[in-house]
Parts: sequence; structure tokens; C-alpha cells
Amino acid sequence: MVLVKTFYAHNELRNFSYAITDQDSGFTWVIDPYDSSVFKDYIQKNGLVLKGILNTHRHHDHIRGNSGLIEAFGTSVQIFRNNQTIDLGHHHSIEVMDTPGHTKDHQVFIWKKGQGTECLFSGDSLFNAGVGNCHGGGDVSELYDSTCLLKQLDDSTLLYPGHDYRLKNLSFAQSLEPENKLIAEKLKELDEYQSEHLPPVTLREEKMVNPFLRLQSKEIRQKVLVETLGLSENNVSDRELFKYLRLMRDQW
Ligand SMILES: [Fe+2]
Repeated sequence: MVLVKTFYAHNELRNFSYAITDQDSGFTWVIDPYDSSVFKDYIQKNGLVLKGILNTHRHHDHIRGNSGLIEAFGTSVQIFRNNQTIDLGHHHSIEVMDTPGHTKDHQVFIWKKGQGTECLFSGDSLFNAGVGNCHGGGDVSELYDSTCLLKQLDDSTLLYPGHDYRLKNLSFAQSLEPENKLIAEKLKELDEYQSEHLPPVTLREEKMVNPFLRLQSKEIRQKVLVETLGLSENNVSDRELFKYLRLMRDQW
């Protein structure tokens, strides 16, 4: 049995970090540790064995806890190439995928059970109802290509992003699709619960609310291309629309 534990940083950037543990062996992988002390407590209290640290990219808020864990456990940051796999035993594995766009070096980690995909640790590539920005050395065209790759994962895959940006992303999504009932429901959910404590959602749901995964939506195309930019929507590719969306979200 493999267990995912989520750690919310309670900081301004609303970072998420994760631990993936094979419960039989206690072998544990940590993803993007923000605060090393909470991981130290978790690992020591549960008698786990830290196998290594995985970083989706090198921005400071994703590697902040590395040094504390290296010092405490003598572990190291593990670097993998595109498509390399970490075996977790019992037919579970973590597959590494290059997803440049937010940064050149960005990778995601995909927990797989056999051939099926269970969870996507997406760092700052794909968020709830949004995608990462390209301010810190990124490239929006590469982000589009990476988003297309992530969209191909199983619809039942659970999304574990690097930040909780649901409120702003869903508000932006609603401005594009005011009639989308699921977006309205998800915003209402945020009124009732603290969003960082909401359970992860599936890619199936994301495809129903995330404008960056809904480039064929007539409403979005009309709103962005015709009403905002005064273009003829027939002539605009998905890649171009994605770029416009990213720009509009930057200014939101
Ligand atoms: Fe980042």
C-alpha cells in the first residue's frame, strides 16, 4: 500500500509539499519540501526511511527544505531523466516526466500502479483551475506542449499541485465561463472550507473547469478571441489561445 501525505506550508505562496511512502517497507520519497522540520517529525514519528528528495524545479520555495533533510538524514536530492522510473515495489512506481514551461528544468512525478496512473505531482506546471506562470525563466509555448502531455494522463488521475491557487484561478475561470456550473460549485466550496484542506481532484474534473485544458470551449474562444482581442476565432490555434489566456491570467 502506498500512502500520500500532503503538507501545506501556511505561507504567502501557499506551497504544498508531499511525502510518498510504501507502507510495507517504510521507504519514503519527499517532493518539494518547504519546511524540513515537519518532514523530520513525520519521518521520525512514523519510523520511516527517507530514500530521497525529488524537486519539480529549482525555485527557492520548492527546494527550501532540502538542506535540513540532507543534514538530518544524510539523504540527497535525486535527479532523474525524462521517462525514468522509481520502483516502489508491489507494482507501484513513480515515473519522471519533463514538463518545461514554468521553468526550463521543470519535471513532474507520476505515481503509477501497474500501467494505470494514480496521482500527478505537478509542481508549478498544472494547478487547480490553472497553470504555472512563465515569469522566472519559463516559456509559454513549452508550457502549452507540457500541458498537452499532462492532459493525456488517465482521467481518474488525482492532481497534487505545488501551490493552492484555487480561489484566484477559479475566479478567472468563471470570468471566462460564467455559465459553467461546476466552476460556480467549486467556488462555493471554497466559501465553506479552507481550500488547502480540500481533497485532490481528478483530471476529469480539471478538464471541466480549467480554462487551459478547455481550449475548444466555444464560450472561452468567444470571450478571449472575439470579445477581448477582436480577432476571428476560426483563425487562432490552440497554442495561440493558450498564450493569450496565460497573458490574461498574468494581468488578472
Ligand atoms: Fe516555481
